Amino acid sequence: MKVLSIESSCDETGAAVVEKKGNTIKVLSNIIATSSEMHAKTGGIIPENAAREQVKSIIPVIVESLVEAENKNSKNFTDNFILASKILKGIDAIAVTYGPGLIGSLLIGVETAKTLSFTSKKPIIPVNHLLAHLYANFIASTDNKNPINFPFIGLIVSGGHTDLLYFKSHNDFKWLGGTRDDAAGEAIDKIGRMLDLPYPAGPEMEIRANRVKDINMKFQSPLINSNDFDFSFSGLKTEAMRYIKENKIDNDLTNKICYATQNAIFDVLIKKTLKAAEIYDCKSILLGGGVSANKTLLERFQSEIKNLKIKTEIFTPEKKYATDNAAMIGAYALINGEKKEWREVGSNPELYFS
Ligand code: KG4
Ligand code: ZN
Repeated sequence: MKVLSIESSCDETGAAVVEKKGNTIKVLSNIIATSSEMHAKTGGIIPENAAREQVKSIIPVIVESLVEAENKNSKNFTDNFILASKILKGIDAIAVTYGPGLIGSLLIGVETAKTLSFTSKKPIIPVNHLLAHLYANFIASTDNKNPINFPFIGLIVSGGHTDLLYFKSHNDFKWLGGTRDDAAGEAIDKIGRMLDLPYPAGPEMEIRANRVKDINMKFQSPLINSNDFDFSFSGLKTEAMRYIKENKIDNDLTNKICYATQNAIFDVLIKKTLKAAEIYDCKSILLGGGVSANKTLLERFQSEIKNLKIKTEIFTPEKKYATDNAAMIGAYALINGEKKEWREVGSNPELYFS
């Protein structure tokens, strides 16, 4: 089965063609247009601007994903457009993110998918963006084996969400906890903004944190000792803000603040995720979302997992599938999606886990 998948929940417009053969999920194309440079100027996303950019990008991105999937990109839009409508005939379904996200952005992807579904008579597969972040781990890299085993713990760490889930099977899962205020990525971006780092701050914060050799600075990890699976990062933001106000911030100190911020966030993420894996006796741990692109986070998980009483394996998506993209939407649709008629599908900005 082969799907065209569309992602437009925030400031990225993505389209991909993804195929499932046996148990292998293969990405044939994965195109992304981002308006993040525009948002960098305002230090964050203005929803109205993000939606306007989505409108401009959605058709060119879909056309490119279809022609790229067949290695037939002529670089001429009219030629590609004609070819894309032919290629669409060989697609089995159209998968689309229907939530959560910014309503203006979501509508562009969902209504485009519905129009394509209506005109091409292909079914739609609506996909939860958050679950798709975890299912990015099922995309095959080199071999055909899928080493992910149930039960697994899923940790979603993105710009908008921090959630911990326990999966017995694809359809039987339980939300264990999540952030009570800011998401992990949101705290990183907000502290990054105080330090004048480019938006989004995660990648630059990682580079700067890696430059720190000796560290004598520590921020608190909120809720690290609480007896639940919740997170809270707004206190960390306040602590960092106070420190930045009270000290003369040079390049060296900026790097140290990056290191301390990352560490405070990672300490609590790792502690609670591993505790959940132990309690629920999980065979795998799946990370997903933009913050899971961070190599230090993975390395720390890999090292600390060895101290557990159980044997479990950690998975993180390839970097290009960790941040927002349409390939992960296709992967979820192919593994656990439900085909619907276009009339039954609508955007749901508040969608959570149900
Ligand atoms: O999943 P994502 O692309 O979008 C949402 O669904 O929110 O996540 C974006 C978040 C941003 O907060 C960004 O700063 C963070 O992921 N991020 C990182 C890294 N790359 C992106 N955080 C830490 N380290 C990174 N390398
Ligand atoms: Zn996301």
